[in-house]
Amino acid sequence: MVTRREFLDTVAIGAAGFAVGSTAKSYAQILGANDRLNFAVIGLHSRAYAHLSALKANSKAARITHVCDVDSKTLKKFADSVQQQMGHAAATDKDFREILAQKDVDAITIAAPDHWHTPMAIAGLQAGKNVYVEKPCSHNPAEGALLVEAQRKYGKLVQMGTQQRSSDYTIEIVDKIHNGLIGRTYYGKSWYSNTRGSIGIGKVVPVPPQLDWDLWQGPAPRRPYKDNVQPYNWHWFKIYGTGEALNNGTHEVDVCRWALGVDYPQRVSSSGGRYQFKDDWQFYDTLLTSFEYPDKMIDWEGKSCQGMKFYHRDRGSTIMGTKGTVLIDRGGYEIYDLEGKKTSEYKVGKAASSSDLVGRDSMTDAHFANFIAGIRTGAKLNAPVSVGNVAVTMLQLSNISWEVQRELHLDTTDGKIQNDPQAMKMWGREYEKGWAPHI
Ligand SMILES: NC(=O)c1ccc[n+]([C@@H]2O[C@H](COP(=O)([O-])OP(=O)(O)OC[C@H]3O[C@@H](n4cnc5c(N)ncnc54)[C@H](O)[C@@H]3O)[C@@H](O)[C@H]2O)c1
Repeated sequence: MVTRREFLDTVAIGAAGFAVGSTAKSYAQILGANDRLNFAVIGLHSRAYAHLSALKANSKAARITHVCDVDSKTLKKFADSVQQQMGHAAATDKDFREILAQKDVDAITIAAPDHWHTPMAIAGLQAGKNVYVEKPCSHNPAEGALLVEAQRKYGKLVQMGTQQRSSDYTIEIVDKIHNGLIGRTYYGKSWYSNTRGSIGIGKVVPVPPQLDWDLWQGPAPRRPYKDNVQPYNWHWFKIYGTGEALNNGTHEVDVCRWALGVDYPQRVSSSGGRYQFKDDWQFYDTLLTSFEYPDKMIDWEGKSCQGMKFYHRDRGSTIMGTKGTVLIDRGGYEIYDLEGKKTSEYKVGKAASSSDLVGRDSMTDAHFANFIAGIRTGAKLNAPVSVGNVAVTMLQLSNISWEVQRELHLDTTDGKIQNDPQAMKMWGREYEKGWAPHI
């Protein structure tokens, strides 16, 4: 008798062309409730609700069988939402390792903080799971490279959560840019602005009774619990988060490098600071970075605490070429001639806003659909980790350039910093004993 797992594996292998198995079409015809992919969602406070919404949108092909969070209140609230939205219960666990041990889990999604992304994704691959990991796929460049290697070694799929890669209109306009729409492209400008408040000065307080602080910290060095770190504000602490460059630059710089058709630059240079507030925030709130290629450049301007927009938008990317410009954001795109006159536009029908990040948005639905098709039929992923990790590493290098306050010269094959041992020391990070990922 063929088990459910063997059946799913045969379908994936058959569709990838390595063996004669069921075709995707015949599989779709016989797909029943028990043949849907079993997903476990990990890290449930905020972004995970977009994963829930996307899995609901794809519920003919997938269901949520397990949910995991180290905070028992967050876990219960999300499990209740699964019951309500999907119409079935999911098993709950605070320890993701228990979930990885479940044979029937086909895929995990990771929306835990950044310091967890690579260690959890690698553990998932080692347990034979397909992985949807939120951006950034890693906390530092060494981890990103390790995750790419792990994906190749263990063979399951890893999709990174840069959902714009699965947006129809973005795919279409990038394709047109590649086909000469605005001539030879040479400049990509990306930006983000928000009005985040101060995170204040944290106080050491007792760990909330519902939270397993040890398992929250996991690979990060142990620290006493403070009242201004989680949820969300961990983004601004270096042992957990990666700053605004990775938080939002990952999306916008990725669009630029995709449209310009470039990988690692020759030079990276950043400047900025924490100007708006003086508090525990360990990164900049204002950062300008330029990535230089032999005949092109990308720049990134991130403002975390100053809402002034560019082109009336709080985020976006413009791609400039010898004949014109294309502006792309989450609301559509606009095409301009060389004089800066708008010649055409496409709108998805709702304003582009950072609030699109959480909750229902069709790009994430499409990105999950692509991941599911990758697992079930061998379809090409839109943001496999080998592709996603390039923008992630570029923005980590932007952080390093800001730290050392100088321009970095890179090996364009892998992004490694040349002739600067002090900067290269920041390629990796320190782990809590026993938690460093190995493959
Ligand atoms: N693709 C996008 O557009 C997008 C949007 C928002 C956030 N994100 C990404 O999603 C991730 C999560 O962001 P968020 O805003 O939801 O953060 P959050 O702080 O609100 O939630 C993180 C959750 O992870 C849980 N967690 C921590 N350690 C865990 C562990 N070991 N096992 C299980 N759960 C654990 C926490 O308890 C918390 O509930 C971030 O990496 C962020 O960059 C992506």
